[in-house]
Amino acid sequence: MLRTRAGNPHSSTLAPSSAAVADRHGVQRDGDVAEKPGGRSPSAAGARGARRTDGAACAPDTAESGMHSASNSRPDACAMSDADLDMAFDSDYEHFMRVAHDDAFNRNEAQLIAEVAELTPGMRVLDAPCGYGRISLELARRGLRVHGVDRRPPLVESALADADRAGLSVSAEVADLRSFRSAEGFDAAVMWFTSFGYGSDEDSRAMLRNLRGALRPGGRLVIDTFNPMYQYARAHAQSPQFIVWPRVGSDLMLDRFTIEHDAERVLAQRTVVRDGEVRDFSWSLRILVPGEYRQWLADAGFVDVDFRGEQGGSFDWTKRRMIVIARTPETDERATPTLCGLR
Ligand SMILES: C[S@@+](CC[C@H](N)C(=O)[O-])C[C@H]1O[C@@H](n2cnc3c(N)ncnc32)[C@H](O)[C@@H]1O
Repeated sequence: MLRTRAGNPHSSTLAPSSAAVADRHGVQRDGDVAEKPGGRSPSAAGARGARRTDGAACAPDTAESGMHSASNSRPDACAMSDADLDMAFDSDYEHFMRVAHDDAFNRNEAQLIAEVAELTPGMRVLDAPCGYGRISLELARRGLRVHGVDRRPPLVESALADADRAGLSVSAEVADLRSFRSAEGFDAAVMWFTSFGYGSDEDSRAMLRNLRGALRPGGRLVIDTFNPMYQYARAHAQSPQFIVWPRVGSDLMLDRFTIEHDAERVLAQRTVVRDGEVRDFSWSLRILVPGEYRQWLADAGFVDVDFRGEQGGSFDWTKRRMIVIARTPETDERATPTLCGLR
């Protein structure tokens, strides 16, 4: 485990016919779509103007990818591999997201998390996955004792370095949430910014079980993701959809989104233009409707599953975001099924 003492809007430009400027969730301002990863392979050749195609999660034109074609897919057939995750969350991800998510935005998110998870200073919070630590640091600033977990070492290192620079006490470790275990008894676990559902269904279910095991009795889990019903409605109105992420100097990042209905996944083909080099790859995310969240969370031992829209308000199909809130039982027994709150 790495430990340290110590503590980021927008794009413009070139838009294919239906492109929209992304808001800070990667959501089109006049509509929506999920947000996501990006990345530059350290080994990427830097030839100016070069185009690389790095493979894809479930993309139809990715013969070199280890991923399966979408044509006869089920959710697991389109699951992202470890190599896909590495590609999606390398230095390009941090490069663009640090601009898309500025300090004021991150503060606002931390405030929202504190509200929906009912956090008070001194509580122990698991930020999983933590990425480069933007949420961890803001929660630590609010007096919370934060531990971050992410499978990408460079992101964890960035989080700890930022915490050091800011004089904030944050701990973090490189770990895979599919196998992560902790007996810490955290008061809350935060899975923010569409971080759930890259892998197979069993991967995702394992993560829920592991988070449940890391929480104290009565501990809260909050998951922030796109609203599947809103996504389906948008896709019905227009597909594909495009997001142009905030520019970083002359660097650009563009996502082209479709929904793979058979695989029940959002599929994104991402193009990154950085330092004159063009790189294409894909990522995908499982779409779970509220009833599936309820079931998966109950199966993992959570109770009292609730849903909110963006900013913690009421939830319905018109909301772009969906915040899922659940808690572990007050006693350490497995959850029993409930009907309208009655056991
Ligand atoms: C979209 S980012 C969000 C990061 C952070 N929650 C935030 O709000 O900035 C998703 C993160 O999930 C991490 N991740 C994906 N699969 C993971 C896994 N199985 N275990 C741990 N981290 C994972 C990636 O490395 C990436 O940092």
